[in-house]
Formats: sequence, structure tokens, C-alpha cells
Amino acid sequence: MADKKIPQKEPYVMEMQPGKYAWCNCAESSNQPFCDGSHRGTGLRPITVEIKEKQEIAWCGCKRSGNKPYCDGTHNNL
Ligand code: FES
Repeated sequence: MADKKIPQKEPYVMEMQPGKYAWCNCAESSNQPFCDGSHRGTGLRPITVEIKEKQEIAWCGCKRSGNKPYCDGTHNNL
């Protein structure tokens, strides 16, 4: 498989409500930064997290963070 796509070279900063979220790990989703099922056949799976309190989250948009699903600044080196 070719290198993963880079949906964007910056995080998706979003105000999140409590709940469960599936962060797209394959970079193929049309609903970034979340999974839309496009990973089928890629061998990759989304990363699911539960957010307990309303808060701002910086979801990794480059898909190369060392702290997925969150941005860790890796995008600055792409
Ligand atoms: S968007 Fe910042 S590490 Fe991926």
C-alpha cells in the first residue's frame, strides 16, 4: 500500500461533546477526522476514544502523530 494520504497538515480542532468517537486512521474517510468505513481493505482500523466531558480536542489531521488520535506536532515536520 502506498503511503497514507495526508488529509491536512494541521489538526482538526473541534469542540467535542461527551461520547464515543472513531478517529479515522487510514486517511481515506470523507468525514475527517472521523471514520466513515472507508478503511475496509486497507488493513487499518479506526482508533476509538470516549470523551467524558465537553472539551476542545485537536484531532490529528496528518495521520502521523505519535499520540493518535491527537495532534502531537508531528505535522510541523511534514
Ligand atoms: S495534525 Fe498534528 S500531528 Fe498530525
